[in-house]
Amino acid sequence: MAAKNDPARENSTLRPRRPRPASAHLPGDLSGADLVARMIRVDQAGEYGARRIYEGQLAVLGPNHPKAETIRHMHAQELKHLKTFDGLVAERRVRPTALQPLWHVAGFALGAATAMMGEKAAMACTVAVEEVIDEHYAKQAEELGEEEPELKKTIEVFRAEELEHRDTGLEHGAEDAPGYELLSAGIKAGSRLAIWLSERV
Ligand SMILES: [Fe+2]
Ligand SMILES: [Fe+2]
Repeated sequence: MAAKNDPARENSTLRPRRPRPASAHLPGDLSGADLVARMIRVDQAGEYGARRIYEGQLAVLGPNHPKAETIRHMHAQELKHLKTFDGLVAERRVRPTALQPLWHVAGFALGAATAMMGEKAAMACTVAVEEVIDEHYAKQAEELGEEEPELKKTIEVFRAEELEHRDTGLEHGAEDAPGYELLSAGIKAGSRLAIWLSERV
């Protein structure tokens, strides 16, 4: 039986890697190292925002709401994702986003506001956010190509879990939320803006 703190397990996602030579470029204008730092920065920010969305929803719906257990499960997975990216930020000395205080408030507010609109709107929020995260992680995995296999594996595992969250939202009536299309489009636009900003700021 593997011990809980088995270093081999820890290392599977957190092992330090040799810095990429400055000459090795991935697609785009940034050097490979800058591109990877940007990925880790935005992913930490996104997982932090996801955590706050679920905290906002739980604060409004309350611990005994029929959907609370489902939301707590997704929240627990976001905490695990966040912990992994917190570790990568520290290990690789990535500058975290300066916008974390904003995502602290905006994530919670988005979760709380959608929960106030009803449990189906809360689920619609999850579906919209996770669809954006899915395309975001898919793009990152593609950009990494053969580089950074462990980071790529982490992204792919998390992406699968985000898709589970999307499916959970759909199973719990997201599409029956009043004004679903508009709500979804607005949340997606906001999420894409948050990603764009967190990559850069
Ligand atoms: Fe996540
Ligand atoms: Fe998620």
